[in-house]
Amino acid sequence: ELRMKVIAIDGPSASGKGTVAAQVAAILNRDYLDSGALYRLTALYASQQNIDWHNEHEIATLAYKLPVVFSTDSILLNGMDVTAAIRTETIGMGASAIAALPAVRTALLQRQRDFLTPRGLVADGRDMASVVFPQAELKIFLTASAPIRAQRRALQLGLATDGADYQRILNEIEKRDQADRSRTVAPLKPANDAIILDTSLLSIKESVEKVLDWYRKI
Ligand code: CDP
Ligand code: CDP
Repeated sequence: ELRMKVIAIDGPSASGKGTVAAQVAAILNRDYLDSGALYRLTALYASQQNIDWHNEHEIATLAYKLPVVFSTDSILLNGMDVTAAIRTETIGMGASAIAALPAVRTALLQRQRDFLTPRGLVADGRDMASVVFPQAELKIFLTASAPIRAQRRALQLGLATDGADYQRILNEIEKRDQADRSRTVAPLKPANDAIILDTSLLSIKESVEKVLDWYRKI
């Protein structure tokens, strides 16, 4: 069977897939694709142009011609640094809304595949294993309990891991997970041939080691 030089890491919000995928890519000297950033960029671009998040045709058109430049530590949209602007939860919800539109997913498909070069790729998202790189040599579904993911996100944002901010983040995470799980196209769920890695009790380093262990076995 033909295998692509791709490690696919899918999973829910704040499970640590971005952090783990970027570290695995650096260790293996591969490129890294943050596919969620493409959905976030599309949502931001649409909102900048006052296009409604339900307007499938217009958003797909934007997604095809997204004027984006990825550099080592920043993302430029139309020449503007949007590295921080795409990380808000409003844009996360917008990304989730437009990601449910089939024409938008189709528009971003080739752009994601173009990230694969002879160097090889580590790609994180929701459908890396099921849709974008079904031939990936290794497929991981990275997860953690919702309260732990909410704590991680709170820490990442410099907020307390209990109280009102924590509760709000937990609600947002559960709401977006529910939307991503229940959509018809590319729903959030492990691919049939994915290894499930629950990182609730693992550090980043331990999670990275697990992925590298599986990689060495293939
Ligand atoms: O970092 P976090 O997991 O919170 O979000 P993300 O990976 O940046 O993705 C933002 C949203 O884009 C998700 O809630 C999904 O609805 C959508 N997405 C997707 O549908 N498919 C992907 N491959 C990546 C993201
Ligand atoms: O990409 P995704 O939304 O799945 O998550 P992330 O942005 O990579 O990770 C969310 C936060 O959890 C980051 O601050 C990571 O450093 C942290 N994290 C952690 O504390 N323990 C892990 N095992 C994995 C991630």
